[in-house]
Amino acid sequence: MSTAKLNYNGKDYEFPVITGTENEAAIDFTQLRADTGAITFDPGYGNTGSCKSAITFIDGEKGILRYRGYPIEELAVSSKFSEVCFLLIYGHLPSEKELSEWRRQLTINSNIHESMINFFDHYPPTAHPMAILSAMVASLSTFYPDSDDDEQLDTNIVRILAKAKTLAAFSYKKTRGEPIIYPIASQSYAANFLFMMFGSPAEPYVVSPLLERVLNMLLILHADHEQNCSTSTVRMVGSSGANLYASISAGISGLWGPLHGGANQEVIEMLERIVSDGCNYKKYIDMAKDKNSGFRLMGFGHRVYKNFDPRATLLKNACDDVLKELGVIEPLLEIAKHIEEIALKDDFFIERKLYPNVDFYSGIIYRAIGIPTNMFTVMFAIGRMPGWIAQWKEMRAESGNRIHRPRQIYTGEAKREYVPVEKR
Ligand code: SDX
Repeated sequence: MSTAKLNYNGKDYEFPVITGTENEAAIDFTQLRADTGAITFDPGYGNTGSCKSAITFIDGEKGILRYRGYPIEELAVSSKFSEVCFLLIYGHLPSEKELSEWRRQLTINSNIHESMINFFDHYPPTAHPMAILSAMVASLSTFYPDSDDDEQLDTNIVRILAKAKTLAAFSYKKTRGEPIIYPIASQSYAANFLFMMFGSPAEPYVVSPLLERVLNMLLILHADHEQNCSTSTVRMVGSSGANLYASISAGISGLWGPLHGGANQEVIEMLERIVSDGCNYKKYIDMAKDKNSGFRLMGFGHRVYKNFDPRATLLKNACDDVLKELGVIEPLLEIAKHIEEIALKDDFFIERKLYPNVDFYSGIIYRAIGIPTNMFTVMFAIGRMPGWIAQWKEMRAESGNRIHRPRQIYTGEAKREYVPVEKR
């Protein structure tokens, strides 16, 4: 076992070094405060490992992403989202029998309790779908008395996965004042979502195999990404003993932020702003480089990837194919490609290793499918459900799992006496 030596306050200390499957190294500071009285300080946790995990591996320098060892490039084109859900959650690719039963479970659990449908009626039409999804996932637990029962975890896992897409599609129909469309057993996960979103009692809706394939890929690409903000939130909330529904609901809120999953909506709004401003690319690139502008190139940069985000590469390539096959002319795609080209030649972005991330091109495909912009982050959340679940399950299975409770360095007032208001 290799170790790391620390000299602090004139005393020598030695801490073990943990090495991962791909030879990543971590200094194990679990005894640091007990031994030295000091804590680490790492705002934003950029240098802090919160856990050991066997689910997803990312190499930010090489632009590598693998789910349970399988490269994302292979899963994105060869697998189905339901299969990837099983892989992430249970750790292996399902046998034919396992996959058939898993898909059956996802199908028969797709509906929500009928009385939940009335909940949608009480949101204003302007309600953001992420607010609705977060609230409705937490509310799901009120219909299942066994939502806190660890023995029923597999049942609750299937419920959340199966119902997330239904909640999203129902909220879409409700805000449009259209009749909701119930899922049908014969359809795949992706096809059922499209059917519930764009179907109508007035006329038959046939799910396009192309759209089903594209959505399937989008969901797979978003399925997990190790200890990102929303996943760390799911783990933290779950570490308190909160049930899976409550933990996932918290993760949905964490994902909503514009620096995280909310970026896919921000990218489209940014591109539209650039178009409406006469495609003045230089103005926006200069603004992105100016800290005082408060403007960032949304869809660019990443805490871990200091090379191309492999998901962005796959999505960029898919954009051309999807738009061509759909016969859609999307000017925003050319704008996005042009911005990428300019940024990747600019020293500011090169020095900071800022590349397009998963959110830079995904919105263009969601838009081509017909998903409204304010639902883009909901699509990210539906894709991320299996990852959140897998990470929560892994955290809860850890022996000796303790509640997550970081420390701090206090910089406030020293002790002072209370002064009654009449004497202040
Ligand atoms: C996701 O973590 C994950 O895995 C997340 C995710 C997942 O699958 O779960 O991959 C999904 O959230 C992707 C990221 C989506 N967000 C955006 O596209 C928003 C725009 N990006 C940035 O806000 C930023 O790049 C972050 C939030 C993604 C990363 O932030 P960091 O790691 O805290 O980086 P930073 O803010 O410290 O930036 C480092 C430098 C700074 O400049 P200096 O202070 O060194 O001069 O790079 C600059 C930043 O100003 N910078 C940008 C920029 N991103 C970073 N400058 C302009 N435009 C940007 N987009």
